[in-house]
Amino acid sequence: MKVAVIGVGHVGLVTAATLAHFGHDVVGLDEDPAKIDTLQQGRAPFYEPGLQDLLDEVLGSGKLRFTREAAEAIEGADCAFICVGTPARADGEANLLAVENAARSVARNATGDIVVIQKSTVPVSTADRLHSIFAKATTHRIRLVSSPEFLREGAAVQDSLKPDRILVGSDDPEAHALMRKLYEPVLGGDCRYFEVDIHTAELAKHACNAFLALKISFANALARVCEASGADVVSVADIMGSDHRIGRDFLNAGLGYGGYCFPKDLLAFKAVAGRLGYDFGLLEEVMKINRGALDATVQKIKDALWNVESKKVLLLGLSFKPGTDDVRESPALNLARALTDLGAEVVGCDPQANEFAVREMPGLQVVEDPYKGAEGAHCIVVCTEWPEFADLDFVRLKGIVTLPMIVDGRNLLNEKDVVEAGFSYLPTGRPPANL
Ligand code: UDX
Repeated sequence: MKVAVIGVGHVGLVTAATLAHFGHDVVGLDEDPAKIDTLQQGRAPFYEPGLQDLLDEVLGSGKLRFTREAAEAIEGADCAFICVGTPARADGEANLLAVENAARSVARNATGDIVVIQKSTVPVSTADRLHSIFAKATTHRIRLVSSPEFLREGAAVQDSLKPDRILVGSDDPEAHALMRKLYEPVLGGDCRYFEVDIHTAELAKHACNAFLALKISFANALARVCEASGADVVSVADIMGSDHRIGRDFLNAGLGYGGYCFPKDLLAFKAVAGRLGYDFGLLEEVMKINRGALDATVQKIKDALWNVESKKVLLLGLSFKPGTDDVRESPALNLARALTDLGAEVVGCDPQANEFAVREMPGLQVVEDPYKGAEGAHCIVVCTEWPEFADLDFVRLKGIVTLPMIVDGRNLLNEKDVVEAGFSYLPTGRPPANL
């Protein structure tokens, strides 16, 4: 099948490479010249485990190519995926201009009937707008599908090659038939395939992300109560998680959620519910608790250091989660800003994200080597749970810091390792040790 993928960011590029791996002829389209240049040279423009190998394979087989020309990508295509960004506006609503432009571009450049698959996360009822664009802009038959993506950064290739579910929303039986053919290689087995109406698909994506964020915020609220009472939030989460009705995933307390999806999707979901006449106040509380998780960590550092001014703080991890170089809405960078505002000297260290962090926060000091970053530090804060930070030599670190103090914003470290090395240890929602 001939497939166009519009927007080759984290979702679009992985989708394009996966469909090419399934044997389809795929063209990736993006308006960013630097991104297309990098891809045409055969390189992934961001870090995602397994992506470079997958690109090597599908570029080598000729199943995937890239262009900036919409006409070239869309001409003769059986279907076109829209995978463009939907950033938050100041009022919380998603800015859908890129989706609108992509839809108009498909309508303008279609050379025959085509199925448009809307993958960008959009508010429910966006399909109605797209239908009306298509009806006015072309005489070709454009069938619309909403197929939200559930892949997680850091595990995107694996999630895409072996999805646990595929969600296809459409009111058109022929569009459903094309989607089944497109995804034939992964159907059966453990993958659940949902065929629903278009509005259900649109709403399900916001519902999933909001519920996951709700679980994280529940854990972060529990952490506050655990800290006040001397209980251990990790054990509470383990006990809760052993009930299969609750499940253990996404109950990890810490600095809160970040990334390109949760913060903007929560805002957008709340806004669209409000527009439809329902005040989804629960989502406001989820967002408030998330901000509170970061504030609580700032307070913990202030309490530990007494006077924060000119004290050196090493942040271990700058990406919004491990396994990615993505720093969008990263809690680590929000913490860096808060500590800088308080007058601290902040140094960041991330295995992948240093370069993107400095682009996002110009002037931020970064180091490749955590031991170098720890020289003279008054406090080390674990911001992202990269596994390599758990394996640091804490005895060596103790020898080079000014104050042996670790704040664990992700409950990553083994308390025994750090306490035996002589550090005071302040985890999140768990009793501190060696104060
Ligand atoms: C999310 C959804 O998981 C994915 O299905 C959707 O397609 C896109 O949005 P992603 O943004 O890649 O994926 O990251 P995710 O793994 O969900 O983590 C989001 C944030 O929550 C991270 O900052 C992470 O550190 C934080 N988190 C996650 C917690 O604080 N605690 C947890 O228990 C889990």
